[in-house]
Amino acid sequence: MYYKTSQEHEALRAAIREWAEREIKPIAFMLDQNNQFPGEQIRDFAQRGYMGLPYPTEYGGAGKDILSYAIAVEELSRVDGGTGVILSAHVSLGSYPIFAFGTEEQKQKYLVPLAKGEKIGAFGLTEPNAGSDAGGTETTAELVGDYYILNGEKIFITNGGEADTYVVFAVTTPGIGTRGISAFIVEKGWKGFTFGDHYDKMGIRSSATAQLLFNNVKVPRENLLGKEGQGFKVAMSTLDGGRIGIAAQALGIAQGAYEAAVEYAKEREQFGAPIAQLQAIQFKVAEMATKIRAARFMVYSAAELKEHHEPYGMEAAMAKKYASDICLEVVNDALQVFGGNGYLKGMEVERAYRDAKICTIYEGTNEIQNVVIASYILGKAAKAAPAAPGVKKKNPITGPRKKMILSDGSAKERVEQLVQCLKEDGHDFSVGIDIDTPIIAAERVVSAGKGIGSKENMKLIEDLAKAAGAAVGSSRPVAEQLQYVPLNRYVGMSGQKFSGNLYIACGISGATQHLKGIKEAATIVAINTNPNAPIFKNADYGIVGDVNEILPLLTAALDTGKPKEPAPPMVKMKRAVIEEPQPAPVGRYVCLGCGYEYIPENGDEDAEVRPGTSYKDLPEDWVCPECGEEKANFIPA
Ligand code: CAA
Repeated sequence: MYYKTSQEHEALRAAIREWAEREIKPIAFMLDQNNQFPGEQIRDFAQRGYMGLPYPTEYGGAGKDILSYAIAVEELSRVDGGTGVILSAHVSLGSYPIFAFGTEEQKQKYLVPLAKGEKIGAFGLTEPNAGSDAGGTETTAELVGDYYILNGEKIFITNGGEADTYVVFAVTTPGIGTRGISAFIVEKGWKGFTFGDHYDKMGIRSSATAQLLFNNVKVPRENLLGKEGQGFKVAMSTLDGGRIGIAAQALGIAQGAYEAAVEYAKEREQFGAPIAQLQAIQFKVAEMATKIRAARFMVYSAAELKEHHEPYGMEAAMAKKYASDICLEVVNDALQVFGGNGYLKGMEVERAYRDAKICTIYEGTNEIQNVVIASYILGKAAKAAPAAPGVKKKNPITGPRKKMILSDGSAKERVEQLVQCLKEDGHDFSVGIDIDTPIIAAERVVSAGKGIGSKENMKLIEDLAKAAGAAVGSSRPVAEQLQYVPLNRYVGMSGQKFSGNLYIACGISGATQHLKGIKEAATIVAINTNPNAPIFKNADYGIVGDVNEILPLLTAALDTGKPKEPAPPMVKMKRAVIEEPQPAPVGRYVCLGCGYEYIPENGDEDAEVRPGTSYKDLPEDWVCPECGEEKANFIPA
């Protein structure tokens, strides 16, 4: 087999390389340092018709093939891995599902502006409990009249916040696993749809990555993408193609680092000659070039298979896995060629080294790629039967909690009720610790989230901490971005872990990373204006209200009027034992006429009974689809 790209492909490569060298290369270090999205440059790139390369011209695209798109991602990534994934996530993940599964109206409304590059697209699949196990999706979409009401959160979303159009996956039929998931097109700006902070990442820092938060977002019924229950398949087949994009990104990052190393090896002199003359360096160069060539064949071949509508899922997974694995090896060798110089910030190989790692993680870890590849070769691995409808129930991140939202009476009465509950639980507010006590050693912490507002309001936190005999803590953004407290006071997965007796979260929404830092707390109290903030599901007590109103009331209610006695050594309190309600029995029913078995997980498509409908909820006029027997003539199986 003789393989070579066409002249047209190489002309496109040259054009995109020239653009990336001119527009991105000079600012790549700045974007990296500032965690900055190259908005202006992406608009310019879009005007050149590159944001919709593989989509037909009638939908606003450039009408090129998948290989052209892969080359474009490769060339951007050769200069900056973050810019490469902006294109990849936009084309493969944000636009493709609409192209492949959208109705004509949806394509006209959403795909055309995406393919023209007037809008940016993103893909909302990953959640705190649904990473590699994408079927564990917990975001819900409930059909009410003409709208689906969307609630939940998505994490690590590429182009999050910068994108205009989001393909979002949510459970429409709970309890039936992947077949209960549906896909929706959601627009930025809709009421209740907000973004968390951009993540502070190790690499690809020019690409925006954010959390998506859905609080009763009304999604018009016509924005259902594909059929109800088809969402998981939409996601999986989208990811098949997306993996070609990530493979191309890895290839480009490797190519950029390799070229830099070769150039440096020719100019850097040691022992009286360029280091390129040393066999140790020559072998590294030979290894790098060989791996890159093999990866390129795999990436381009997967792209060609997709282009020709041949099966390509396994080949895309192999290309993604191989290209990202060798990318790590190549950037490592390239940096080694640079020696100490390569270790300095601002050096391209240093950035490539950090950018490379994500390619083995996102769009399915390389371990998941192995699962996919093996399933093509050996068939799908057997797995446990899905839980019966309604049975599968996950605990919140902080474990079972009382979740007692105090809602009776005025704000003052609710605060008094809270103090009463805390005292009954055994918290003694006549003693206390210093507000500067290290979080790890603190028995109590009062923490501020971004909901605290301006810096002056930190006085409310300090006053409350003193009245509660607690130390002051915060969420990460309050310490890192707002700098209201030193970095060593933020609580969370990457910060300080709190394992004392009382944690009072003020204006903290409850991002997963924060919750992981407080899961050992004996009692968690949440004060937040948003009743749907995740912190409430992870707290023992909650008051829905404004910190400006609640905190002074709570401070007054806890203030004994006397200085606190020094707290004795902490005795860890026991957490409340929560009895979870047992789910109502839901089961199969058998027709006495013909033996047909009604299975709630499947519903009855012909009679328009949705999957997940229990026998009891079947319409009274429903009859056996096999023999016409009435509903009353069914018995439990
Ligand atoms: N295409 C179409 N349908 C597919 C499919 C595919 N490639 N793969 C599976 N399906 C279908 C199956 O046929 C099955 O259908 P039936 O119910 O009709 O039988 C259904 O989907 C469920 O399949 P599985 O039982 O195999 O599903 P699973 O729960 O075992 O999951 C998995 C399989 C491969 C592990 C999958 O969960 C997976 O790919 N996980 C990784 C998720 C991932 O890649 N996330 C990336 C997030 S996006 C991202 O990272 C973007 C970014 O930042 C740039």
